[in-house]
Amino acid sequence: MLPPFSSLSRLARRSDESLPWDDECVDRLDERSRKRVGDYWAGRAEAELRVAVAFASLGEQLRDTGTEPAVLALLDASVANERYHASLCERLAVRYLGMPIAKPQAGQVHLPPLPGVDRPMRAALFAAGLCAVNESIATVWLEHGFARATAPLARAVNQIHLADEVVHARVGWAHLASRWVTPVMRRDLSRWLVPLLRTNVAQWLASETLAGPGVPDHGLVDPIEQRAHVLGAVHNVVIPGFDHVGIDVSAAARWFKAEFG
Ligand SMILES: [Fe+2]
Ligand SMILES: [Fe+2]
Repeated sequence: MLPPFSSLSRLARRSDESLPWDDECVDRLDERSRKRVGDYWAGRAEAELRVAVAFASLGEQLRDTGTEPAVLALLDASVANERYHASLCERLAVRYLGMPIAKPQAGQVHLPPLPGVDRPMRAALFAAGLCAVNESIATVWLEHGFARATAPLARAVNQIHLADEVVHARVGWAHLASRWVTPVMRRDLSRWLVPLLRTNVAQWLASETLAGPGVPDHGLVDPIEQRAHVLGAVHNVVIPGFDHVGIDVSAAARWFKAEFG
């Protein structure tokens, strides 16, 4: 059932002052690991701002082409979430690095132009890519970061992010399941699924976080383990999710098996 309006109003009242910013585990961490975790959060701060911009654009498109009011309510909350996450990530980066960082910037955010695709289909594709695929993978990513983390600050922040990412993924799934995505669009979506997954999975696997050692106690999971979690999210959550909303996933399942076994 949609939407969790109680959680939407909770978001509006948020304060991060209750988080354990003076967590001594951060101070005890070796310098190299502190830099690695700090750099990770600094990068995440900018990524969160880019997602906020992309979500705002998706909101405009869905207002134009139509969706359920609950989807728009969740999406508006998601834009606010991502801006909040950016500020949280910036503060974490400063805490771990022990010095100020340059103000995070979203920079230019260009969604793929998708020439020849009509507006409702374009909105459905962005809802699928930005929310259903990307945020479902993010949810699994953070779930494992949270599970591995022992430092109180890392656990608290991963928990906040995790709770929100579930909502962001729901935006995509809820729109795809709605009457605004017609049977014809569902057939078209099945043809887009492989390129959509290929692009999205490649971006996750190219993440700089997977190019260096993990700091699991602080939420950075070992790269080999985290790569397996990304692929597990696609195989166990994303592909079955598209199947659940009536989109033919046979080509996507074949692609996944051929690519990753
Ligand atoms: Fe986020
Ligand atoms: Fe998100």
